[in-house]
Amino acid sequence: MLGPQHDRASFESGVGPLDRYFRTQAGQDARKNMAAPFVLVLPDGTIAGYYTLSSTAVNVGEWPAQTVRKLPRYPLIPATLLGRLAVDQRHQGNGYGRFLLADALYRAVSSEIASFAVIVDAKDENARRFYERESFLPFPDQPLKLFLPMADIAELFK
Ligand SMILES: CC(C)(COP(=O)(O)OP(=O)(O)OC[C@H]1O[C@@H](n2cnc3c(N)ncnc32)[C@H](O)[C@@H]1OP(=O)(O)O)[C@@H](O)C(=O)NCCC(=O)NCCS
Repeated sequence: MLGPQHDRASFESGVGPLDRYFRTQAGQDARKNMAAPFVLVLPDGTIAGYYTLSSTAVNVGEWPAQTVRKLPRYPLIPATLLGRLAVDQRHQGNGYGRFLLADALYRAVSSEIASFAVIVDAKDENARRFYERESFLPFPDQPLKLFLPMADIAELFK
């Protein structure tokens, strides 16, 4: 979990909004219970990457029909939002992104709070491809919004 001991000033993923969020907003979001930021710290103390998790809910009408067909008819489906995920550009391509994603999925599936799926809002096509490689599925008509059912995540960690 992100704390005051972590030096965020030099973190640079190359994506301005993700860097600004991490440097200026993530601490406050943690304190106000808006999002839980988690960091990957290397042995020398530098931060290789981070992600955030929070609770969300997605209107039943947004999900693929075949997904909601098997669910009770609630207007909102509970989910876990992987709001942001970024790796410092000096450390990209070393497997840290996949590691952080696996860590986030494990944390989500380990919670005792029910959640139907993990949701991500990919910021562009590259990010979408990153998540699709890890089995995330797009929402109909919202190709940059993807989900992975918690039941599938549980299978991954069985
Ligand atoms: C996307 C990101 C998190 C990936 O992290 P990373 O540490 O570089 O990725 P990894 O080394 O763990 O790679 C995991 C796999 O995804 C692939 N991959 C990495 N970045 C990718 C991208 N932008 N598009 C498609 N695939 C990608 C890798 O090739 C690798 O697959 P392989 O093992 O089959 O070769 C990182 O590049 C990043 O922070 N980018 C800027 C911010 C961003 O786009 N965040 C996405 C969330 S909105």
